Amino acid sequence: MDLPYYEDPGPGLGFEPARTATRSNAPALSLNGTWRFQLRPTAAEPAPGFDADWERSWDEIPVPGHWQLNGHGSPAYTNVRYPFPVDPPHVPDENPTGDYRRGFDLPADWPGPDQGARTLLRFDGVDSCFRVWLNGEPLGHAKGSRLAHEFEVGRLLRPGRNTLAVRVNQWSSGSYLEDQDMWWLSGIFRDVTLLSRPEAALDDHFVHAGYEHATGTGVLSVETSAPATLSIPELGLDRVDPAGPHRIPGVEPWSAEQPRLYDAVLSTPQETVSLRIGFRSIAIEDGVLRVNGRRILFRGVNRHEWHPERGRALDRATMLQDVLLMKRHNINAVRTSHYPPHPDFLDLCDEYGLWVIDECDLETHGFTEVGWRRNPTDDPMWHEACLDRIERTVERDKNHPAILLWSLGNEAGHGANLEAMAAWCHHRDPERPVHYEGDWDSSYVDVYSRMYASHEEVLAIGRREEAPASTPERDAHRRTLPFIQCEYAHAMGNGPGGLTEYQELFERYERLQGGFVWEWIDHGIPQRTPDGTPYYAYGGDFGEPLHDGNFIADGLLFPDRTPSPGLVEFRKVVAPVRIGGTAAGDGAGGLRIDNLHDFRSLEHLAFDWTVEEEGVPVARGTLTVPEVPAGTGVELPLPKVPAAAGESWLTVRATLAEDQPWAPAGHEVAWGQLQLAERPLRTPVPSGSDRSERQDGAALGPARFDPASGVLLRLGGLAVSGPRLDVWRAPTDNDLGGGERSTARAWRRAGLDRMRHRTVSAGPEDGAFVVRSRVAPAATDLGLQAEYRWSLEDGRLRLDLSVVPEGDWDALTLPRLGLRMALPAAFDRAAWFGLGPGESYRDTRQAVRVGRFAAPVAELQTPYVMPQENGNRSEVRWATFLDADGSGLRVEGEPFFDFTARPWTSEDLDAARHTADLHPRDQVFLTLDQAHQGIGSGSCGPGALPQHRLSAGATTFTLLFSEVSAASEVRPS
Ligand code: GAL
Repeated sequence: MDLPYYEDPGPGLGFEPARTATRSNAPALSLNGTWRFQLRPTAAEPAPGFDADWERSWDEIPVPGHWQLNGHGSPAYTNVRYPFPVDPPHVPDENPTGDYRRGFDLPADWPGPDQGARTLLRFDGVDSCFRVWLNGEPLGHAKGSRLAHEFEVGRLLRPGRNTLAVRVNQWSSGSYLEDQDMWWLSGIFRDVTLLSRPEAALDDHFVHAGYEHATGTGVLSVETSAPATLSIPELGLDRVDPAGPHRIPGVEPWSAEQPRLYDAVLSTPQETVSLRIGFRSIAIEDGVLRVNGRRILFRGVNRHEWHPERGRALDRATMLQDVLLMKRHNINAVRTSHYPPHPDFLDLCDEYGLWVIDECDLETHGFTEVGWRRNPTDDPMWHEACLDRIERTVERDKNHPAILLWSLGNEAGHGANLEAMAAWCHHRDPERPVHYEGDWDSSYVDVYSRMYASHEEVLAIGRREEAPASTPERDAHRRTLPFIQCEYAHAMGNGPGGLTEYQELFERYERLQGGFVWEWIDHGIPQRTPDGTPYYAYGGDFGEPLHDGNFIADGLLFPDRTPSPGLVEFRKVVAPVRIGGTAAGDGAGGLRIDNLHDFRSLEHLAFDWTVEEEGVPVARGTLTVPEVPAGTGVELPLPKVPAAAGESWLTVRATLAEDQPWAPAGHEVAWGQLQLAERPLRTPVPSGSDRSERQDGAALGPARFDPASGVLLRLGGLAVSGPRLDVWRAPTDNDLGGGERSTARAWRRAGLDRMRHRTVSAGPEDGAFVVRSRVAPAATDLGLQAEYRWSLEDGRLRLDLSVVPEGDWDALTLPRLGLRMALPAAFDRAAWFGLGPGESYRDTRQAVRVGRFAAPVAELQTPYVMPQENGNRSEVRWATFLDADGSGLRVEGEPFFDFTARPWTSEDLDAARHTADLHPRDQVFLTLDQAHQGIGSGSCGPGALPQHRLSAGATTFTLLFSEVSAASEVRPS
């Protein structure tokens, strides 16, 4: 087959064998910076002279960077489908090709061949295929976008000025191997460096630093590609033979919790390479993955590299921000989905402590669209490319203590090339287990891995009662393996729900060693509407004919790295300390503190407590916690607290006692709450005054109703609209998941988004104002009978709503059940006593605590990239919605209600595609709810668990309304 280099399925030509990323003292020259650039529509031959003549009229472009994010072409997003015909290894004629050039001056003292030195030109990442010339001479070409390539350039380098030319094709045979769920973005997006390699250079080394946990001995041996000496001053090793093995008693092991690194140097007469060594052992024993002899639990996330302006061209500050955010949210593990990250990120994982599954740059998911015909991972034509990819991954990254497992890639079907890759890993690095989720039988990998398995299936796997593998032998083998969910809890939009239930399983069954939430960050791209309103773009927003919409916005962080409520929830669910216990008002009961760390005691934490009555702090103190080894717990007496008159809660917090590299002293790691005293029962004061006066036609005390519809119009001086029975919510991404079979589709089919109200009767009845209505969608006889019974109680307006479903609701759930009303826009300051401060739903409510909170309505909105239901506050005892003067509405629950307060309606939210589509109206819209359908993670995975679904049934719901006037004090109920 005579193929152009970019279609040749091989990995390329002319580059050096893969080797470790090193920190050497040999001269290096960064070639990052401003380059010249021209984008061409096809891969036709470059303009004459491109590779040598200096053309200054070209545009400027930053390197590292993607051309689509720097004014040339535009981003495109597909998840599974290739945006070109599946015609391997060919690519279309329309193949945007970027010509890059720059000049550079070789430093006068750059060592030349006469000094025995070689010079390498290193590219850390070019997407997807590139060809290089130095001073007009071709050096070679390469594929493997997220892999490093080095070209030997010594013979072509000139003293003084040199010209480097690089031609990058957007599409190549490599694109078939890089079908990851992300934006298609091209160009030189990682560093370019000129490296001097001295004579007898130490090009490669391989650190083996084991830890014998029974004795505390470190066993060290370093393979080197040239004779060298090893020094580790802290361990008393001075210029020893690296090969050892050196047995070093009393080393401190490396773990994600305590990432102890020892600085070391490897030296040859001409070169010094600095190493950071972490001693640790990895073993799979009795079906359990152990590090340093202990079972570990992954509290992990899948991390794509993403920066909203720079795409996958990440700077170190952003990488550090990711690491710190992870550590501060109790995350202890990262799967580098779905390619090796920038090498600096792995240095940071070593330094700050994160377990890593390092994944090869390989995904061929789009072949699923053609029944996996000609899948590269099972075609000999692609053998070399597949092997090259895993070799470049392992060789570059092998010296990171943080990396526990190699992953062969993602969603690449199965085939002989994958088996060969696994065999190569086992041979090259027998110390690390191999992961690949696509090997469903786990026949050539060392851990059993699944994605998006339901709670039920995870439970079965935990009990080793899962469905059998394809043959009895494979089944027997797989049952001996530890299990991880390499992806779960799809964090798209509002959610994920159901985290707690997964965590309970992971903690209960030894085999279940945790998982990795999909995914870390929303890949939104900032754009502006014609009138300048900012928003984040997703698939389809750049005119792509084929795209997967907002499936690209499914992270725990918003694109600007603000934590979403999902991340705040995850932080609580996976907190390494659990604080609970029981309390009775009389001081009986006790606290229980469980240490869920894998290694660490609680010595680094300080504990304090606060008692709040009706959300107001009344007492606080500190707690002395004795030594609690990892994996154990302790019972403590409750602190002595004053007797409470109202509802009272004890909050215990665990904070960092001293600064840690990843967070300052005082950073909260965990907390728990115990209720000390129940809410006192209200004794309603019967309405005293003359009935006939208060119940006058469509009036009841301060309330005025519309005589025809019975809808409340005024409460004293306050104009209101509603409340009326309401069940709709703007579907979440999780409600929408599953296409035709989605929950949202069922709701819309039933017409729950377009309910009509028919007033049956409205008028005075037994001292109350009673409205009966039927609320129902068109084209069906399904309906909800609603009875609103308004009465006066203790100066408040009491509403008893009773709802009785009519017709067959069996196959349907309800989005919500509650009321909707509106106030004039000025009443935009909310305060409440209930769960907060953040949003919560019935299956996402671990991170919220009982307290008194306040926020302007504008701040109660969660700006999901694709607008949807958000901002619900749960278990609210009372809430007020006031204007700037402090007048407005107070609502009380009996005992609780949920609320949202928004400057737009649920229908506005439902219709909006981007945040910029939402425009405040002249009202504040409130939902006051008895219940919501849970959230689940149905956007990719299981929907809400049965116990979190909301079915229609006869129910009653009570709220009390009162007007707050500026002068009156807000009473706790
Ligand atoms: C998985 C895949 C991820 C991502 C996710 C859905 O199947 O491995 O890359 O596409 O689904 O967001």
